[in-house]
Amino acid sequence: MNALTVVPGRAGSAALVDVPEPALSDGPILVETLAVGVCGTDLEILAGDYGWSPPGRERLILGHESLGRVLEAPDDAPVAPGDLVVGIVRRPDPVPCANCAVREWDFCRNGRYTERGIKEHDGYLSERYRITADYLVKVDPGLGTLGVLLEPTSVVAKAWEQVQRIGERAHWAPRTVLVTGAGPIGLLAALLGVQRGLDVHVLDRVSAGPKTELVASLGATYHSGSIGDTGLRPDVVIECTGVASVILDAMSHVGVGGVMCLTGVSSGGHQITIDEGAINRSMVLENVAVVGSVNANRRHYEAGAQALAAADRDWLSRLITRRVALAQWSDALTRTDDDVKVVIEVRPATTDAP
Ligand code: BGC
Repeated sequence: MNALTVVPGRAGSAALVDVPEPALSDGPILVETLAVGVCGTDLEILAGDYGWSPPGRERLILGHESLGRVLEAPDDAPVAPGDLVVGIVRRPDPVPCANCAVREWDFCRNGRYTERGIKEHDGYLSERYRITADYLVKVDPGLGTLGVLLEPTSVVAKAWEQVQRIGERAHWAPRTVLVTGAGPIGLLAALLGVQRGLDVHVLDRVSAGPKTELVASLGATYHSGSIGDTGLRPDVVIECTGVASVILDAMSHVGVGGVMCLTGVSSGGHQITIDEGAINRSMVLENVAVVGSVNANRRHYEAGAQALAAADRDWLSRLITRRVALAQWSDALTRTDDDVKVVIEVRPATTDAP
């Protein structure tokens, strides 16, 4: 079968290759891959800056934002042939650490976790894969290929859970949220904010185009420019750019007792001058909390699946701005300002959303 593979650490090494059918030892459930989303992490892996092959192998099968359809499952499995499913990305470390032992692998303490399509474990960008039921999440069949948005939604569901848990250290009745960055993570974070009944604001560098329209049709407010210009002192900030200047600007505008969650990974190497004293002073005097958040465990996938099932299908389908056939995979790797989510279609779906 075909799989899109890469030699981690080697830029330009991506290739569609013929690989053996998935081994039965991977799990009793056989899934045919329908679509796989491309994200910033994939682009980093393709650029040779991130990613690790499975032990003893040169090539890693790429792809961690998947949607598939079950082909074979044991009679007692929680999924059945025909179900639309998404595979979880991370696997617990082998020790396991205290968090992985209780299936909170997104909080792995020793860094020995593996991630499908990213770290030492083949991804989902092959025509078929095998898996065990505990790493498979069902999506609402009515979502069709929009179910490919579940992995990024799980990351955002975890971020919102962090915000909620930290917020509840005192009386917590948030009203305003600022999302920095209108990429897929930012827009999905905004969706979950609207679903929580909050007044959502999204800030991005572009001032026109599909991102502004997507924010407006959510009923949220779009801003471009500096955070100071918005006049906001949000109770919640979900940071989705990873850009140092935006992060610091946001940190100094969080409202009293507010929570800011960092989800974007910075590339590093950028130096900017800041008044650390002033930031420290306002964070201490106003009980501001800043928390980092990565990955997602099964609870977050389930929350994400519920959020997608409740979302407007037309809005979700506008997030997928390009669909590229597997044979043309390289077209999926170039991004334009108007791209939100680009998806590689491994097998064009027959159960598409309206
Ligand atoms: C994935 C996460 C993963 C992270 C770091 C992200 O793109 O969505 O699941 O933990 O990359 O590897």
